[in-house]
Amino acid sequence: MENEVCIPINSEFDIVTARQKGKEMAVPLGFSNTELTLIATAISEVVRNIVEYARSGELCLNIVREGDKRGIAVIASDRGPGIPNIKLAMQDGYSTGKSLGLGLPGAKRLMDEFEIVSEVGKGTKITMKKWVQKNVR
Ligand SMILES: Nc1ncnc2c1ncn2[C@@H]1O[C@H](COP(=O)(O)OP(=O)(O)OP(=O)(O)O)[C@@H](O)[C@H]1O
Ligand SMILES: [Mg+2]
Repeated sequence: MENEVCIPINSEFDIVTARQKGKEMAVPLGFSNTELTLIATAISEVVRNIVEYARSGELCLNIVREGDKRGIAVIASDRGPGIPNIKLAMQDGYSTGKSLGLGLPGAKRLMDEFEIVSEVGKGTKITMKKWVQKNVR
């Protein structure tokens, strides 16, 4: 199994591919079905944003280890317009696209770690991680 997979994002059809790849990569790590759905949903949101606001970009998936933790990293990057006010963009209900404005804050809640680096005129890079919860019960 490859440790890194990158998918070019050019249209809404790539959302399906990205979701599938994400699940495919997360299954062998031992995530529950619920967690797989949460990861796929978070992937959908950041990929949809690439299509809507940047037109094209890339979604990379990595298997990550930190100490004895294992998980998946999802990195969505584009060279689109960038986000002028990240704090605002992370608020529930904020949208420049007349949409619900729940994508980014939702994705953050679904994952364990969430980071945005964005520069106006340069692009946006979102890194999200989810760790396998081993010590449940
Ligand atoms: N990759 C991106 N490049 C540029 N701007 C972005 C990008 N992703 C998000 N944004 C900006 O952040 C705002 C909030 O994004 P978010 O996904 O939370 O909501 P939305 O896409 O507007 O609505 P929803 O996701 O609920 O359909 C967007 O309206 C847009 O202005
Ligand atoms: Mg969105």
